[in-house]
Formats: sequence, structure tokens, C-alpha cells
Amino acid sequence: MTRLFAAVTALAAALCSGQEMRSGSEKKNPLAGQKPAIEAGAKRFKEGCAACHGANAEGGRGPKLVRNRDLYRLTDEQIFDILRRGIPGTSMPPSQMPDQQTWELVSFVRSLNSPASQAVITGNPENGKTLFYGDGHCSTCHSIRGHGGLIGPDLTDAGATLTVSELRESMEHPSAEITPGFETVSIKLKDGTEIEGVAKNYSNYSIDILDRKGELHLLDKANVATITWNKQSLMPADIAKSLVPGGIDDVIAFLAQQVVRPPGAAERGRRRRQDIE
Ligand code: HEC
Ligand code: HEC
Repeated sequence: MTRLFAAVTALAAALCSGQEMRSGSEKKNPLAGQKPAIEAGAKRFKEGCAACHGANAEGGRGPKLVRNRDLYRLTDEQIFDILRRGIPGTSMPPSQMPDQQTWELVSFVRSLNSPASQAVITGNPENGKTLFYGDGHCSTCHSIRGHGGLIGPDLTDAGATLTVSELRESMEHPSAEITPGFETVSIKLKDGTEIEGVAKNYSNYSIDILDRKGELHLLDKANVATITWNKQSLMPADIAKSLVPGGIDDVIAFLAQQVVRPPGAAERGRRRRQDIE
């Protein structure tokens, strides 16, 4: 999994350098981060943009707008101008939408790279919860607030650390990017025993494996014949398809609600520090 943290760091860096270079005439999005605006933008995106950029903005005739590094570097004003003027010489069309609607789309485009807890969610979180602990079998491998398995990453703060698109990608293509610390490993012991699981601790002398049943094997390397690192995630590749139709959106809606720190806490902290200075 790509970490949102890296993205946020890149965004912060881009914004800082941008602010230094530009004068005070920068047009600010009056609707930045506002859920009703993001929702209105999402609706307009479906009608006017999804045909080229994909229903989940994952790309098609136009580039993907999720996990899109170029967008981190653009200011809100620059995105506004792209939507207004289009990109000449390409099929990205200009538009005559009023300012308000254009800013709503800017808010939506931005939300595609924000933590899931701040994005527009279409699924039903209650259904998602039922799937997570029931037919989806997620909780056999993942914990939330201390309940569930340990084979997969803890998802207690998933809504704050992963974007909607990262959550979707984790479920649709688990092996595309393996979360560090959860690499799959197959071990053959000298006595012929085979063990598969995720490697928890690894040194020159020992290796600890958590197997699919959640059993921890503390292995002395002296007893190990071969260690094979596997590029396939231990998370079942077909897990998204095994859910009921719409189930993936419901599970995303449930995970988007999983945040340790209430939204705004970081904001408040920052403001207080400025007050002191
Ligand atoms: C007919 C197809 C088409 C439609 C409709 C369309 N786009 Fe695009 N869009 C493109 C293409 C192609 C590009 C890339 C142009 C280039 O090569 O730079 C693009 C680029 C963009 C970019 C810049 C992305 C980047 O990586 O720099 C944004 C943002 C964007 N579109 C948003 C939208 C939004 C929002 C809408 C709906 C209002 C929309 N587009 C409608 C085809 C389209
Ligand atoms: C058999 C165990 C297993 C099951 C069942 C399982 N997962 Fe996973 N999951 C993993 C492992 C192992 C990883 C880490 C490796 C990787 O990135 O694929 C992971 C990674 C993830 C990640 C990425 C987390 C991060 O911090 O990057 C998400 C999100 C996720 N799983 C959600 C789910 C959901 C939702 C379900 C149920 C529909 C589910 N998983 C079912 C084992 C499982």
C-alpha cells in the first residue's frame, strides 16, 4: 500500500514552496474541504467527467485523478483554471460552468487524495460493518480497536491514514502493493515442515512467522532449510469479488469512519501553537 503520509508530506511541501513563489493574488477555493460542496462536485463529476476519467476517477481516456502526483503540485486556482479553460491541444474540454460549480468540482478533485474520513462516501457503513465482521471475513485477519485478527494490518485508524482509492485498491488488488511488515513468506524447516504466513521479526538468527490461523511460530534459523519471500499478499486475491454487489463500497464506508483522532484535532493543535507565537 502506498501511504497517504507520503502524499500529505509531498502536498505540504508543494503548498509551502508554492506560497513562497506566488504573490497574495492567489485565488482561494471558498468551498475547500466542505462536504456539501464535495458531494455536489461528485455528482457533477459523474455526469460530466467520469466518461473520460473513470467512474472512480481511476483513469480512462483522461488521466487518473486518484493517486495523481501532478495534482499535489497544482494549487486550487490552477485546477480551477484547467476546468475553466480545458487543456488546449488535448481532449480535456473547457467549460462555462459558473464559479460556484467549478469550485465544487475543485473540492471534489482534491478530496480524491484526502483521507477517506474526509471524502465523499457512497456506501452504507452499517452494511459494511456487518460484512467486515461477517461474510467478508475481514476481521479474521484485521483488528479494529483490539477486536479481530493480527495477520493483516490494524485498521483502527484506516479512515485517517488511507484514501478511498487506496482502500479500494487494497481490496481489489491486494498484491499490487504489500503493506511493509506484512510480506508473505514460506518457510521449509529441516524436518520437512512447511509454514506460510507473514514475517513479523527477522534477524540473522531467528524469524517469527504469524500463520493463517493466527499462530505465532518463533523459529530458530538453525532449523530452517529454505525461506521463500512471496510476492502474493496473504489477503485473498478475489476478496472484493466474493462480496455481495455494492459490498465493497459499504466496507469502504465503514472503514472511512475508523479514525483514532477526531477530525479537526490536528487543526486545533496547530492554531493553538500559532496563538502562542
Ligand atoms: C473528453 C474527455 C474528457 C472530459 C469530458 C474531461 N476530461 Fe479532464 N482530462 C482529459 C484529458 C485527456 C486530460 C489530460 C490532458 C493532457 O494530456 O494534459 C485531462 C486532464 C484533466 C486534469 C489535469 C490532470 C493532471 O494530471 O494534470 C484535471 C484536473 C481534469 N482533467 C479534470 C476534469 C474534470 C473535473 C472534468 C469534468 C468537468 C473533466 N476533466 C472532463 C479528458 C477529459
Ligand atoms: C487471510 C487474511 C486476510 C483477510 C481475510 C483480509 N485481509 Fe486485508 N490484508 C491482509 C494482509 C496480510 C494485508 C497486508 C498485505 C497487503 O498489503 O496486501 C492486508 C491489507 C489490507 C489493507 C491495507 C492496509 C494498509 O494499512 O495498507 C486493507 C485496507 C485491507 N487489507 C482490508 C481488508 C478488508 C476490508 C477485508 C475484508 C473484505 C480484508 N482485508 C480481508 C490479510 C487479510
